[in-house]
Amino acid sequence: MKLSKRALAVISAIAAALIIGVIFLLTNKNVFGDKDFENQAPSAIVPDWVSGEDTGAEVTVKTDEIEAMEDLNLPEADKSVYMDASKPIEERIDALMAQMSVTEKAAQMVQPEQNGISLEQIKTYGIGSVLSGGGSAPVSGNKAENWNTHLNNIKQAALESRLGIPVLYGIDAVHGNNNVYGATVFPHNIGLGAASDEELMTQIGIATAKEVRAVAAQWTFAPCLGNAQNELWGRTYECYSENADDVARLSKALVIGLQGEPESEEYLNDEHVLATAKHYIGEGYTVNGENQGNVEMSVDEWEMLLHETLLKPYKALVDAGTLTVMPSFTSVNDLKTHEDSYLINEVLKGELGFKGLVVSDYNAIEQVSGKGLKEQVANSVNAGVDLLMEPYNWEDCIKYIKQNVAEGTISQERIDDAVRRILYVKFAAGLFEDVNGQEFQNGLTSNFGADENREIARRAVRESLTLLTNVNINGKPAMKAFEKAKSIAVVGQKADSIGSQCGGWTISWQGSNGNITEGTTLLQALEKAAGSRTITYSDDGSDLSADADAYLVVAGESPYAEMYGDRSASTLLVDDNDKAMITIASDALQKAREEGKPVILLLMTGRPVTIADYIDKFDAIIEAWLPGTEGEGMADVLLGDYDFNATLTFTWPWYAENINEKFNDDSAVLFKYGTGLKKDGSTIKQEGTVVLNEKPQRDEKVILKDGMIDLESTNYVVEGEFYNSDSYLVTTGNENNLTFVENWGGQWANTKWNVWIPGAGKYTLHFYIAAAKDSDTVEIYYHEGSITDDGNANKTAVPMKKTADMNTYEDFSLEVTLNEGAYEFKFMNNTANAADFRLDKVVFEKK
Ligand code: BGC
Repeated sequence: MKLSKRALAVISAIAAALIIGVIFLLTNKNVFGDKDFENQAPSAIVPDWVSGEDTGAEVTVKTDEIEAMEDLNLPEADKSVYMDASKPIEERIDALMAQMSVTEKAAQMVQPEQNGISLEQIKTYGIGSVLSGGGSAPVSGNKAENWNTHLNNIKQAALESRLGIPVLYGIDAVHGNNNVYGATVFPHNIGLGAASDEELMTQIGIATAKEVRAVAAQWTFAPCLGNAQNELWGRTYECYSENADDVARLSKALVIGLQGEPESEEYLNDEHVLATAKHYIGEGYTVNGENQGNVEMSVDEWEMLLHETLLKPYKALVDAGTLTVMPSFTSVNDLKTHEDSYLINEVLKGELGFKGLVVSDYNAIEQVSGKGLKEQVANSVNAGVDLLMEPYNWEDCIKYIKQNVAEGTISQERIDDAVRRILYVKFAAGLFEDVNGQEFQNGLTSNFGADENREIARRAVRESLTLLTNVNINGKPAMKAFEKAKSIAVVGQKADSIGSQCGGWTISWQGSNGNITEGTTLLQALEKAAGSRTITYSDDGSDLSADADAYLVVAGESPYAEMYGDRSASTLLVDDNDKAMITIASDALQKAREEGKPVILLLMTGRPVTIADYIDKFDAIIEAWLPGTEGEGMADVLLGDYDFNATLTFTWPWYAENINEKFNDDSAVLFKYGTGLKKDGSTIKQEGTVVLNEKPQRDEKVILKDGMIDLESTNYVVEGEFYNSDSYLVTTGNENNLTFVENWGGQWANTKWNVWIPGAGKYTLHFYIAAAKDSDTVEIYYHEGSITDDGNANKTAVPMKKTADMNTYEDFSLEVTLNEGAYEFKFMNNTANAADFRLDKVVFEKK
């Protein structure tokens, strides 16, 4: 192969980048697998415009790059037509596409992570789109200014490519521009569903769009259109309602704010951003609410659900001018949505007439069928995926798109259609007229986190606060007595934690408790609004003031996102430390109630959790959801003149193990859809009248074992294929009568089993594994209850040793001490150089 001067220059740059890149890879374990889990510590921020240094990420460049970019040595582009804003979009697209090489087309079809590509690579390839996944901030820091500079540099790099096609930058602004330090963080969608106010939604959209534009991005991966049916699912809080009509109405109103009214002057102008309808489709219906799980139903049932319910929000958003759709990680009857041509090509692009682009979800291409990435790329592109969100494997994707086209496994027409859609979105959003750095000119940067946006968020908090019970104390509703109290004792860590108020998708992907960004905690807000009242505070319930004349107990869920939020029925509860706090405070609280003082529970959870034990222990229960940074909205209602106005958009069962019955058995229901009270005890909606059914009887042990592998009944053997969740599992199989789970080297495996341990004691766990070569390790995690945090789970690494063949399993043993009860085991591998391996079974040998 003869290399041009330009290619040689790039290769020298590659060599230099290689050395730095290797160091980076060794220090960043997530680069091939998942999102950055670390918080960006605000104190470590050094604005990069001070130094002027910003070369983008330092990444390794593989030798494949040379093959992938072969045809980039092309003549200077003729930009006269496609850069001419007076020409019709179709003419501009034609003029541009006529000049594009296959590599340049493929480069428009990939979406790397900002920390997985250098500015030089963006320019060399003419990369079409870049993203920041949850928690991925510029290396220079996480302030709006850092983002603005970095994103403008990325845009500039794309403009300097041969064709100068503007780059489309996408981020997850799912409740405000939540990745960025200092952004206004709005309540998560479940709270906005309870508020049910379309005008408010539009205001939130407008404010969010401005804060996204302030950092120079033009696209948000929002809103989520799921209508969760099973709150064991960790993404329930990203849904507005269990009811698809609510979702359609509220998400449409948000999109009008984000993008502007279609066909108006403001539509996608430089104060608005592109919205994404996600995650297409069926994600709220997976078995056991498993994230990335499977929807199982007959073809007829699915067709009816799809056409009568699930498509409603998508249709509403397509009608509102939404130009991007993201498929869901879920499967329907074992077919991944990302390779479902019927759903994408026929229904979305055909029936719904969707003209925009379909962007795959994060690394989702690697989950579809096909042996290896090349086949997977073909399968999803042929199913209708146009833009591949491949944070770190984007370069392989360029190569494989080209190879597939050359071999006819993807047609030229298909990539032309994909590129045409991508370019259409860019033209429609005015990217070709987007002037770099304009955020400064039009003052948007100063609007970032501005008071006017925080006012809207505060209003949203007020409107989403949902009052679930409110009993009379001496003939007066508890909430009326509470607002009159002269001294209030506040209890619980979450009362003074911005991070707990915000939940997942805030600063980092998973979010975290503590003061992670700017805002007002509930406690601070109450202190501000107190006037002549005294506010005292105890974080763990041990030092409650006996003199207070009202008590506010705050409990909830600690932040989580995606699969890390999945729960089993027995673990869908408030956090352990909140449970402990309530236990510690219980005597003091009981005494206060006997004295006729109001004792109120305020929940900060992302979904209905089991609170059966608390119903009789509190005079009122308030659900604040995940309200975001503006805690003053809560104080406005608790102490101020505002009343409660929200109602539940989710049916709340007494116990999480009754989730499957909650829609057809009233006796399983604690609070109906529509429940919501006012301070004076009256109901907001007729159907929301609170009549508490009798608490159902339950056999604790049977309930706890439900859905678990009970070792006593399996002869102490856990078969590989009996896993209960598999976020990244490649396949399961049956060869020569051996069943197994299988993972191809270099792919992710993240497979979990819920196991009931019949008796406490020492066990030897025998893992029967076959591997294709000696290589890295697989990691085994286990934890009582659920693994909610890998860091806290017990972890052991098992080496992978080559076995005689892939049907010969060797025993790798592990000594553990276990208690009686529920455990979660997890088998994980995420190293790029791992062997193909199979796990046949795990035998638990009791000592
Ligand atoms: C999530 C999407 C998100 C994407 C980019 C995925 O893991 O499922 O909702 O938009 O990451 O961060």
